Amino acid sequence: MSGLTLIFGLFFYVSIAIFLVGFMAKVWKYGSTPAPLKIPQTPAPVSAPGVGVRYLQEVFVFKSLFRGNKVLWLGGYLFHLGLLFVLLKHLRFFIAPTSSILSTLVKFDVYSGFILVAALIFLLILRLAIDRHFYISLASDYALLLLLIGIGGTGLLSRFWENGHVRPSVPEVKNFVAGLVTFHPASVPEHKLFLIHFSLVMLLLIYFPFSKLMHAGGVFYSPTRNQIDNPREKRWVNPWAKQVTAAAAAPAAAPVAAAEEPSEG
Ligand code: HEM
Repeated sequence: MSGLTLIFGLFFYVSIAIFLVGFMAKVWKYGSTPAPLKIPQTPAPVSAPGVGVRYLQEVFVFKSLFRGNKVLWLGGYLFHLGLLFVLLKHLRFFIAPTSSILSTLVKFDVYSGFILVAALIFLLILRLAIDRHFYISLASDYALLLLLIGIGGTGLLSRFWENGHVRPSVPEVKNFVAGLVTFHPASVPEHKLFLIHFSLVMLLLIYFPFSKLMHAGGVFYSPTRNQIDNPREKRWVNPWAKQVTAAAAAPAAAPVAAAEEPSEG
């Protein structure tokens, strides 16, 4: 095994570990944080299936963003759609042999990578050109957009800059990636563009759990979205109140009673 393969192999495993542990820890934290108030964002569903339908609309068409800001919705939606197809095509690096559906997708879909990068550039321009967006933008917002543009740009060059020496060999990439996933690492393709693309993806994985990208898991724990609008039909008890009541009811009652007894003197 070459030194380069060792470095990139370790880089992969460390990044994946940080991503998985970080992601699960954050989701655990979201899940165990009590929601003291009944705060569904109205108009809200009045039943559990209604909440399910609301989520389907949020996840598949970004409904509340559409209502709030159509221009931002267009950029965000195109980016996520492009990402979905790009990631689907990437599955062929992880699965051997490549299924015929994936091969057909790769053959006919030449657009999703371009849509992804164009949408990211559009979102960057919105932040820079519109005062309201510029005002609320942080350095981390720009860093994330630039990182994603870097990944998309190097990916597109890898696929479409057909110049003899420029394109990485897909079988070599597949060997390497599938090898990492099955814990039988093969040589890393010694191809500059691939190594940059791969490294940027690993940086994204490391940063993911600490960034706003966690909305991918966090959206399901948002009380304004996941609560049923039924405060009159069903009493909402603050989870903290339950703990306080239980604690007060049992052992704490004894010292209070003792303190209330008249002293002998
Ligand atoms: C371990 C993870 C990844 C590996 C090994 C990888 C590798 C590659 C390779 C080898 C190509 C060239 C494909 C070809 O020649 O057909 C490519 C293309 C591309 N990659 Fe990645 N990539 C990874 C993750 C990602 C991620 C997370 C993104 C997006 C955020 C991304 C975005 C792209 C794009 C936009 C293209 C152009 C592909 C197209 O339009 O069909 N890659 N990637």
